[in-house]
Amino acid sequence: MLGNFTYCNPTRLHFGEQALDQLAGELAGFGSRVLLAYGGGSIKKSGLYGQVTAILKACGKEVFEVPGVMPNPTVDKLYEGCRVARQNDVDLILAVGGGSVCDYAKAVSVSAWCDEDPWDKYYLRMEEVSNRIIPVGCVLTMVGTGSEMNGGSVITHPGQKRKIGHVFGSNVMPRFSILNPALTFTVPMKQMVAGIYDAFNHICEQYFSGEDDNTTDYIAEGLMRSLVVSSRVAVRQPDNYEARSNIMWAATWALNTLLAMGKSTDWEVHMIGQSIGAFTNATHGMTLSAVSLAYYRFIMADGLPKFGRFAVNVWGVDPAGKSAKELAEAGLEAMEHWMEELGVARNIRELGVTEEMLEGIADGTFLLTGGYRTLTRDDVLNILKASM
Ligand code: NZQ
Ligand code: ZN
Repeated sequence: MLGNFTYCNPTRLHFGEQALDQLAGELAGFGSRVLLAYGGGSIKKSGLYGQVTAILKACGKEVFEVPGVMPNPTVDKLYEGCRVARQNDVDLILAVGGGSVCDYAKAVSVSAWCDEDPWDKYYLRMEEVSNRIIPVGCVLTMVGTGSEMNGGSVITHPGQKRKIGHVFGSNVMPRFSILNPALTFTVPMKQMVAGIYDAFNHICEQYFSGEDDNTTDYIAEGLMRSLVVSSRVAVRQPDNYEARSNIMWAATWALNTLLAMGKSTDWEVHMIGQSIGAFTNATHGMTLSAVSLAYYRFIMADGLPKFGRFAVNVWGVDPAGKSAKELAEAGLEAMEHWMEELGVARNIRELGVTEEMLEGIADGTFLLTGGYRTLTRDDVLNILKASM
């Protein structure tokens, strides 16, 4: 384990089919004014909205609402939430939904009492929070992002064609998250597989860095194996509780800071994917799956031992008789077959990317230095072209 680090994750998780029973106890720890944030209507259809509002009422809370938080939440929606949170001086933001709603709640949490433009301060200038933070709690309904137990908050500025994530510190992470796998049964198949690939890629982004023997890599391999096994069950049987619960638990641990310990981490697939999202508003996990293979094939030679280890330990490839390069390639082929089974996007054209967008997407891609190769803008462009 290289380097020095401090590990603290303050989010308390309540997991399982009865997890919502714990909401009342959590609410007791906060003041009476609650901002309820949710998406486009799935929680009303499923009945969860009724359950949550009944609990809020029974706990004597005064509830203010921000409905209609869209996938890939926008900066204008953020401003709206800030107005509601500040005008009503809320004590807690309760996010009920997927990663978009959880991310949004965190963005409002740090922005409501910020006197500058939060887009400029947190997303363009990447500054830390220096104002009052409103606590956040989550009831998760869609699995993948890890937002339920991390400080990440991704906001899109459609006018500027930028989608940017800020990873805030532990003071912004949700105070609690309710994780009931059964709530994910109604997630459409396309969203489910996008979420599974998102979680898998979060692990890859941290795993494909460093050359030392590192406990974190062994944890990562175990999580990837569990995701592969459970996803194969879930695509055939979406209401299989065992599979959905494993996927939910694995996805939370995929991006709750644990797998970054002792790692430099890569995150370049996400940087490219986010820029694609800014131009197309495509589903996040699909923007990752559509560029991953081209990206990993491009950098494979720079991290050959790790790609070989990925082939053997995650995909069970037999190394006998294979050169290091052949072994590494076999691992990526196995990943490609699994992606086909899931039915995730494997080119960016199907996400709405056109040739005319490629230069702009490359311009909007941050170039990070923690992985096996630091890309140039031309490299990004070539990866995008190879992903068409
Ligand atoms: O809006 P509703 O009606 O609720 O429908 C949602 C939405 O259309 C639907 N859905 C969610 N739960 C459902 C359901 N439909 C039926 N039954 C349910 N139980 O699913 C759709 C997608 O939801 P969304 O929250 O957008 O998906 P996801 O969880 O993938 O979140 C994506 C956002 O998270 C960001 C992404 O960039 C994107 O903006 N990310 C956040 C990260 C973080 N905090 O660390 C990291 C990730 O890499 C990612 O960037
Ligand atoms: Zn992601």
